[in-house]
Amino acid sequence: MLNVALPKGRLGEKVYAMFEAAGYECPSIKENNRKLIFENAEKGVRYFWVKPSDVSIYVERGAADIGVAGKDILLEYSPDVYELLDLNLGKCRMAVAAPKNFYDDGDRTLRVATKFCSIASDYYAGLGRDIDIIKLNGSIEIAPILGLSDVIVDIVETGTTLKENDLEVVSVILPISARLIANKSSFKFNSESIEKIMRSIKEQVDKK
Ligand code: PRP
Repeated sequence: MLNVALPKGRLGEKVYAMFEAAGYECPSIKENNRKLIFENAEKGVRYFWVKPSDVSIYVERGAADIGVAGKDILLEYSPDVYELLDLNLGKCRMAVAAPKNFYDDGDRTLRVATKFCSIASDYYAGLGRDIDIIKLNGSIEIAPILGLSDVIVDIVETGTTLKENDLEVVSVILPISARLIANKSSFKFNSESIEKIMRSIKEQVDKK
């Protein structure tokens, strides 16, 4: 039985469609209920919906053989997994944003609010800039508005959240997209089925 951790939400639905097209369908997953685990014994596959930021934990610890996680999560937490494929889905940018007309004079420690402490630290270390990280868990955009921070490091997809809160991108740190990941020992022992899925999904990605 191949265990697959899918990120809950719209991205997860697109990802499931790719697995389905790869021949690993599980029709019960489309039932509209609150169940989180779905199995197709005939196909030897079990899917479960998890919080997107938790997918790599399930995969790293072997509770899932494979899964789909954002590059942001992989960079932030460096889970010990194989990154197999860029799915070209869930595309966005990790960026520094600030109130319009923000000017960093470089003299004082920059206060940075973020969920992505490691990515932010690495980025500013690379610039040789002293920062004070303020770890938040969501609604990061309000931090500079309320004077909690000078800037934020966060994900920008459409840019609407920034715009509606009078913030703008100061610099783009890196592009982000969803990645197919595998548990290291599962990949060794189930290489045939994992590689089969990987090939089919790669064909679908290449066609788009
Ligand atoms: C993410 C991110 C931004 C927003 C960006 O938030 O942290 O707030 O999406 O998307 P946009 O550029 O399309 O507006 P999420 O919805 O995950 O909520 P949270 O971080 O506030 O929990």
